[in-house]
Amino acid sequence: MDTFQQHVIDPAICIRCNTCEDTCPLDAVSHDSRNYVVDPEICNACGACISPCPTGAIDNWRAVVKGAAYSLEEQFSWDDLPEENAALAGITPEHDAIGGEDAVAIQAVDTARGSATAPRSAASPTTNLYGIKRPAEATIAGNFRLTGAETASDVRHIVLDFGSLPFPVLEGQSIGVIPPGTDAAGRPHHARQYSIASPRNGERPGYNNLSLTVKRVAAGQDGNAVDGVCSNYLCDLEKGATVKVIGPFGASFLMPDTPLSPLLMICTGTGSAPMRAMTERRRRLNHPGDENRLMLFFGARTPEELPYFGPLKKLPNRFIDVNLAFSRVPGSPKRYVQDALMERISDVAQLLADPGTHIYVCGLRGMEDGVIAALSAAADAGALDWPNLHAEMKREGRIHFETY
Ligand code: FAD
Ligand code: A2P
Repeated sequence: MDTFQQHVIDPAICIRCNTCEDTCPLDAVSHDSRNYVVDPEICNACGACISPCPTGAIDNWRAVVKGAAYSLEEQFSWDDLPEENAALAGITPEHDAIGGEDAVAIQAVDTARGSATAPRSAASPTTNLYGIKRPAEATIAGNFRLTGAETASDVRHIVLDFGSLPFPVLEGQSIGVIPPGTDAAGRPHHARQYSIASPRNGERPGYNNLSLTVKRVAAGQDGNAVDGVCSNYLCDLEKGATVKVIGPFGASFLMPDTPLSPLLMICTGTGSAPMRAMTERRRRLNHPGDENRLMLFFGARTPEELPYFGPLKKLPNRFIDVNLAFSRVPGSPKRYVQDALMERISDVAQLLADPGTHIYVCGLRGMEDGVIAALSAAADAGALDWPNLHAEMKREGRIHFETY
C-alpha cells in the first residue's frame, strides 16, 4: 500500500500564534478563525516550521494512504487530532519527503528574519510545563492602566501570582491565557499568547509572580469595532481573580546570559513587554561596567500611549540609550522606530559591528520590513556586509523577531 506521513497540526494544543504560517517557505500552512492547517498537496516535510512552534502542536504526523490524505476542510473542522490509524502507523515510521501526489518539491529556503535558536549563552528555558488539559491557575495580584486615561489605547500592566505552583520563566518567554467560555460555535476559546514583561526572578524580586503588558483590542484588523475575547477578559480582571495559564513558551527569543552583551531592542506598543523584562534583568544584575550597552527604540502613537513612559524616563542614559518615536503627536511629523534607527545610524552601525550584540524586535508585524531596511542601511554605513552579517547573527541566535 502506498502511504505517507501527513503533516498535521494539533488544534487542542495550538495557540494560533501564526509562527508556522510565517515560517513555512512553501506557504503550505493557512488558517481560518479557528484552526491552522497544512496543505498535503504542498507540504514537503522540510521541517522549517517545527522548531519555531512554541507549543509543539506543529510536530504531528499521521500515516495515510496516498490520495486519501486529510483534506483542508477536514482539518478545519477538527477539535482534536484524529486517532492514529493503527494498521498504517507502523508502515511508514519516517516522514516521507513529499505529501500529496502532485506536491511541489521545492527545497526549503531560509527566508526567516530572525534566529530559530537561542543566543549561545542563554539560560535553559522551561517550556510547556502546563498545557490546555492541565493549565496552571494564577491569581491577579494587580492590574494597572499604563496609558493616559484620555487616550483610546488601554494598555495594562497585569501581575499574575502563581503562589506555590512552579512557573519558571526567562526574559523573552511568553505564556498562554485561556479565556473562559466558548466561541460562536460552542467550542472552548483557544488560548492567546502574551509576552512576559518581568524578569526571571519575578515582577517583585523573590516572588513567584510575573507581569504582562496587555492591550485591550477594541477593533478588528479591518478596523470594525469588535471586543477581543482574551484582551478584554484580562484587562477587566480585578485583583484576586484567578486565571488559567499555559506555558511557558519560547526557546529562542531569549537574552544572552553574558552580563555585558550589547542589546539593541526595537519595539512598538505591547512589544515593549520583553524589552522591559530584559532591561530589568540587566538593571537588577547591576554588573560593574554595564554602561552604554543597552539601546532601545520604542514606537507609540503619543507619549501618553507609550507603556512604561514614566519609569523609562527615569533610567540613566549611561545604562540605557532610549529613543522614542511618536506617530500621532499633533503638529509633529509621523515618526516610526525605523526613522529613529536611521537618525542614530552611526551608533547602530557600531553596535552591529560588535560580535557580542544581540537584536530583539517585538510588536507590530508591519514594522519588520522597515526595521530590516534600517538595519541594512546601518550596516552599509558601517561598511558591513548586511546579508552576511544577518545570516551570521541568525546562526548565532543574535537576532530575534516576535511580531503579531
Ligand atoms: P480576538 O478575539 O482573538 O480577536 C478580535 C479581533 O481583533 C479580530 O478581528 C482580530 O483580527 C483582531 N486582533 C487579533 N489580535 C490583534 C492584535 N494583536 N492587535 C489588534 N487586533 C487584533 N498582545 C498583547 O496585548 N500583549 C502582548 O505582550 C502580546 N504578546 C504576544 C506575543 C505573541 C508571540 C503573539 C503571537 C501575540 C501576542 N499578543 C500580545 C497578541 C495576543 O495574543 C492576542 O492576539 C490579542 O490580545 C488579541 O486577542 P483577543 O482575544 O482580545 O482578540
Ligand atoms: P500609526 O500611528 O501609524 O498607527 P499601536 O498603537 O497600534 O500599537 O502602534 C504602535 C506604534 O507603531 C504606532 O505609533 C504606530 O503608528 C506604529 N506603526 C504602525 N505601523 C508601523 C510600521 N509599519 N512600522 C513601524 N511602526 C508602525
